[in-house]
Amino acid sequence: RNLKRQTMCRGDINKLNVKFLAIYDSLIPADEEKAKQKQLLTLLEKLVSKEWPEARLYLYGSCANSFDFSKSDIDVCLVMEAANSDKSEVLLKLADILQADNLQNVQALTRARVPIVKLMDPVTGISGDICMNNVLAVVNTKLLRDYAHIDVRLRQLAFIVKHWAKSRGVNETYQGTLSSYAYVLMCINFLQQRRPAVLPCLQGMDITYSVTIDNVECAFFDQVEKLRDFGSRNRESIGQLVWAFFHYWAYCHDYANDVISVRTGCTLSKRAKDWTRRIGNDRHLICIEDPFELSHDLGRVVDKYSIRVLREEFERAAEILHYDPNPCVQSKQLLRY
Ligand code: CTP
Ligand code: MG
Repeated sequence: RNLKRQTMCRGDINKLNVKFLAIYDSLIPADEEKAKQKQLLTLLEKLVSKEWPEARLYLYGSCANSFDFSKSDIDVCLVMEAANSDKSEVLLKLADILQADNLQNVQALTRARVPIVKLMDPVTGISGDICMNNVLAVVNTKLLRDYAHIDVRLRQLAFIVKHWAKSRGVNETYQGTLSSYAYVLMCINFLQQRRPAVLPCLQGMDITYSVTIDNVECAFFDQVEKLRDFGSRNRESIGQLVWAFFHYWAYCHDYANDVISVRTGCTLSKRAKDWTRRIGNDRHLICIEDPFELSHDLGRVVDKYSIRVLREEFERAAEILHYDPNPCVQSKQLLRY
């Protein structure tokens, strides 16, 4: 098998570009939808501040990091002073308040790993989850959003990768595959490592934004409007980048030794992180360092069965992109089945 071919002919790439950009455009949520999300957040803020005037609500996850598809649910974080033992009480009270205001499908899941209240707003038709005091998620959401503002190819690549992962059933942490958050970090790290680079390493630059949360220092350069030209020396199109992304994860990543690290903009060794052996449930079969919680490997959900599934899926995608004489037709297959 000729897996060494590193380039595609211009005609193939152009066809891929058109196809991928059409998929990207079709997944972007309409302004109207974003306005409805804001409307729901405003309603929730009103209800929450009546009961807890000091509390604040923040959007996090894809609805706030610019990697959301049309018709996504919203993730909301309620931030207030409350001891952990009071969390369940607050969430149960919150559920009562929401129910009294006619929000639907309200459910407090106080025993979940991340306790939440689920809801559906019949006016906007939007569903959402509210968690409590998960401020690190609010800050990593900002980091992802800031990266997305530097070069549009990140958002395009992440949309195609997320769409592929959802279509292929490999975006299910409870089944041992990866979260959307992990896939976006893989895309950022991949674009940091292109030569010339498409993205910088914001945590390696002068610090313009800094917060400390739960003893974790989160500091990075966030004046991203100054970095709009950063990726301009790299002229790769989205077709080439998607092709290279799958090629990297299928054939180039060193699963046995490497950890991908957005924090450093490169890869680290598993040895340096002491991620060489299984500890508890963390098997470290594919290693993705959280940018702030450095002991978190986002690949820790992957087990010896699902790592095979994942790697076979990367290879399948890479081969379809690689060999197909008519990538337009095959890329449909890549994304649909
Ligand atoms: N998150 C986290 N650590 C994880 C998983 C998630 O901090 N191990 C936080 C991140 O802030 C992430 C948010 O939870 O943005 C939501 O995670 P996820 O559902 O994986 O990502 P979304 O971007 O919301 O993707 P989707 O559109 O698929 O819902
Ligand atoms: Mg989400």
